Amino acid sequence: MLSAVEDGLDTRQSDVNTEGPAGRSYEKLLRPSLDYTPEVAEATAHIFERVKHHIPAIEWPVHAPYIHAINTLKKERDAVILAHNYQTPEIFHGVADIAGDSLQLAMEATRVKAHVIVQCGVHFMAETSKLLNPSKTVLIPDMKAGCSLAESITGEDVRLLREANPGVPIVTYVNTSADVKAESDICCTSSNAVQVVESFGVDTVLLIPDEYLAQNVAKQTDVKILTWKGHCEVHERFTADELLAYKEADPAIQIVAHPECPTEVTAVADYTGSTSGMIDFATGQKAGAKVLLVTECSMASNIQDQAPGVEFIKPCNLCPHMKRITLPKILDSLLEMKEEVTVDPMVAQKARQAVERMVNLKH
Ligand code: 13P
Ligand code: SF4
Repeated sequence: MLSAVEDGLDTRQSDVNTEGPAGRSYEKLLRPSLDYTPEVAEATAHIFERVKHHIPAIEWPVHAPYIHAINTLKKERDAVILAHNYQTPEIFHGVADIAGDSLQLAMEATRVKAHVIVQCGVHFMAETSKLLNPSKTVLIPDMKAGCSLAESITGEDVRLLREANPGVPIVTYVNTSADVKAESDICCTSSNAVQVVESFGVDTVLLIPDEYLAQNVAKQTDVKILTWKGHCEVHERFTADELLAYKEADPAIQIVAHPECPTEVTAVADYTGSTSGMIDFATGQKAGAKVLLVTECSMASNIQDQAPGVEFIKPCNLCPHMKRITLPKILDSLLEMKEEVTVDPMVAQKARQAVERMVNLKH
């Protein structure tokens, strides 16, 4: 059986159905042509307009066929792509249906209508989407896309912390495994951590596993914060000296930092907030403003078109985990319906409660 050739892209089905994730049967699709044809150039021209300052014209013929193929396959698979702000510009602008920070992606995951979610981000984000959508198929293009924070703590560690601190609520950053979430009372992200900590109305809270996020939150609340020694390998590398050197060279520069940075860094920042908070700050500046983004490298490129008059200074660090996600892997993910993210149902039930408590807090 051969299916229609949609949008000029040949993704003809073979006559074999493939046993896909979640026990569902998915039609096996043939690998589409990845030639840069005039038709592909025309279909992707509006996307190139948005990324042309970050992707040289000579590279576009490499990306465009993948973007065209992925956007066609999404319809055939009834799939939606959720992408974090740290994804590369060709993913962020080219194929993402929804892009945002960790909280926005978790909230959007609760509203997804499509049967398949392809998570362009790291594993804990895909797990969160699965927790919120147990009946949907959640795919991640590279199962090895991890996170140094998620790897810093286990469910057993949290059980021991609870024993050692009886009665103290445990707030877990979303950058953790489902096992860890299942052992905690509620989750938080960098954009709602203060609100979540204060929601208990008690004087002491455990906020784990990011030590620096906890210290930055402690500066904004009277609640005593106990924490853990986990760090983000991207944000822990920034230093106050490095940033002040920029400011000495040009005092007009505004420093915008993520709360996963050490407190010596956030102490010299003009603004500290989640990736979406940083975007709001930067896009709210007048033309001619100079903003130094203290975070992962892709973010400035992704938001430049929303803040055309702002000059971004980028002392950035790459997240090697986020960068595992590429267009060829997203295409394979949709073609072969892989890699499926699953969570043990017993763990999922408890972890879901912790995420849902966060999502249901009034924002
Ligand atoms: P937010 O997008 O929630 O600010 O998180 C940043 C991050 O490091 C995600 O991995
Ligand atoms: Fe984890 Fe840091 Fe990478 Fe985010 S940027 S995924 S916190 S290592």
